[in-house]
Amino acid sequence: MRSAELINLKKLLPFIPKLWNDPLNGINSMIKKYGNVLRFKVAGYDEILLVNDPVVIKYILKDSKDNYIRGKAIGALRGLLGDGILIANEDNWKFQHDLLKASFNEKAVLDYSLTVSESKHELVSQYSKFAELEKSFDLGFHSKIFFLDMMIKMMFHSKASFDYKYIIEALENLTDEASIKNQIINFPIIKFRRLFNKNYQLWSKSGEDIKRLRAMAIELIQLAENDPQNTKLFLKNLLDAKYDSIVKEEFIVDQIMNLFFAGFDTVASAFTWTLALLSKEKEWKNKLLHKMENSSAADLNEFVTAIVDESMRLYPPVWSFTRVAKEDDQYEDIKINKKSYLIFPQYTIHRNEDFWNEPEEFNPDRFMQKEFDKQNPVYLPFGYGKQMCIGNRSAYMQLQLLIPEVINNFEIELLNYNLPKIKPGIIINPKEPILVKISSRK
Ligand code: HEM
Repeated sequence: MRSAELINLKKLLPFIPKLWNDPLNGINSMIKKYGNVLRFKVAGYDEILLVNDPVVIKYILKDSKDNYIRGKAIGALRGLLGDGILIANEDNWKFQHDLLKASFNEKAVLDYSLTVSESKHELVSQYSKFAELEKSFDLGFHSKIFFLDMMIKMMFHSKASFDYKYIIEALENLTDEASIKNQIINFPIIKFRRLFNKNYQLWSKSGEDIKRLRAMAIELIQLAENDPQNTKLFLKNLLDAKYDSIVKEEFIVDQIMNLFFAGFDTVASAFTWTLALLSKEKEWKNKLLHKMENSSAADLNEFVTAIVDESMRLYPPVWSFTRVAKEDDQYEDIKINKKSYLIFPQYTIHRNEDFWNEPEEFNPDRFMQKEFDKQNPVYLPFGYGKQMCIGNRSAYMQLQLLIPEVINNFEIELLNYNLPKIKPGIIINPKEPILVKISSRK
């Protein structure tokens, strides 16, 4: 019979230093000691359940799915994301999902792949310059800029251009504020201040960034209206819905902001960690080079996908996702009270010895086995259930096109002796920059 161990202060205390310094491995140690479903209850707060068990996840997100919603965005993110798909409430979410899905289906992704094929040359040219100058660079940061530029040109408008460095820094500040660590520090302060001022916002300093980012979305809409020929499918579909009076401009701004938040950093993270892992795991890099020369396009795609999947197992770009229970629920001995906040931490599930052989080893072979079942929520980089990532097809397409291109053209040398530890914001970022030096292979 499955149950959820209650973690009281006495049980929690010994883990606090570890949770503070290395939160994800701290959570892993707690799971090892107390089991795969943990319950946290602090007087006056709603209950938190940390769910690491695929059987329980399947029950919650498939069998009992209508009882769980994603929950509101936290702090400043609420201002940024507006009422977009990532935080829309139930009926509104369904409406948005139905409207947006045509911008993410196979045909749409084929359309986006044309831009990726063009951007591929730009990436090779940028890397060639680094190689010529024998210059080291921060692979993670470079990838973010590249994928942001590509997403904007692929989904919104091919002539658009912004201050990408600013966008990335502003988004990082906003997500840092919303990180669990910051919430733990700030939550009691907010609760206390709101006793005296119902509208108290700790995050007001982010207001300027939110205004500036949302103004960029308006700029994109104006660009599209003035130059429809170079407008890309995602924005074109939204503008059509506006012309048909189905949605208002504010709605389009919200959706653009939701993609600024979810649509490039995630792919850039998967790309960065995959390249970093391949430059450490030379055997797999050589196998990939061999595949490129000797296999069909379909075989190569399958192989690259397995490598990407293994990289996202070890470094899932989004380390956890969440739901809130609408009503009381129960699975075996696990009681889930109304308003409980459920956290599904992919990072720890992907490294759990109960579900994976030698979980710390990089071994893409596990994803090439016929018996591997991607429907089993033991592997869930894109979340699970009805609200799982709508952009996963596009993400795979980008990675399948770009990773072989880089490996085929360049030798990447990691300057960090070991891969850096991770900093779990909402995206998994390296704690220190992943510094690399590259040379041309040809
Ligand atoms: C490797 C890349 C990516 C990863 C790991 C990733 C991961 C995730 C995760 C974990 C969720 C939450 C799922 C849930 O709550 O069950 C999500 C949702 C979402 N993602 Fe992604 N994502 C990636 C790429 C993308 C891309 C390329 C786009 C769009 C351009 C995108 C757009 C979205 C949207 C709009 C949602 C909300 C979906 C909904 O509520 O229906 N993602 N993603």
